[in-house]
Amino acid sequence: MAEINVHRILPMAKRFLAKVVAPGDVVIDATAGNGNETYYLAGLVGEQGKVYAFDIQQQALTATAQKLGARQIQVALIHDGHQNVHQYVQEVVAAATFNGFPKEVSHPQGM
Ligand SMILES: C[S@@+](CC[C@H](N)C(=O)[O-])C[C@H]1O[C@@H](n2cnc3c(N)ncnc32)[C@H](O)[C@@H]1O
Repeated sequence: MAEINVHRILPMAKRFLAKVVAPGDVVIDATAGNGNETYYLAGLVGEQGKVYAFDIQQQALTATAQKLGARQIQVALIHDGHQNVHQYVQEVVAAATFNGFPKEVSHPQGM
């Protein structure tokens, strides 16, 4: 069976996100971690868009806030599990990342 090379998948995932996410969109980073995808998504949605970034670890959200710098204004950092997404997100969602891998979604109800 072919081995999955994460160094090739992550750039591919980023190219995919860049195609499906437009300025002004609402997106979700379901597992913020160190904030790499949150930062990238915030750049794609721009100042009119919004990123909901979830993590169950406060230290991950702190690291994400540090990574974001000025992009923090576009991001809601949520200290909760992404399984509770419906409590926080009511808008139509363009895309969501889980551990850095994107899933195309049309609405959080479909997650
Ligand atoms: C591999 S890291 C994510 C990497 C991240 N995308 C980055 O750029 O650094 C996984 C993160 O998922 C978080 N996590 C695990 N289960 C979760 C859940 N149910 N909801 C939200 N975050 C979760 C962990 O706390 C951890 O910070």
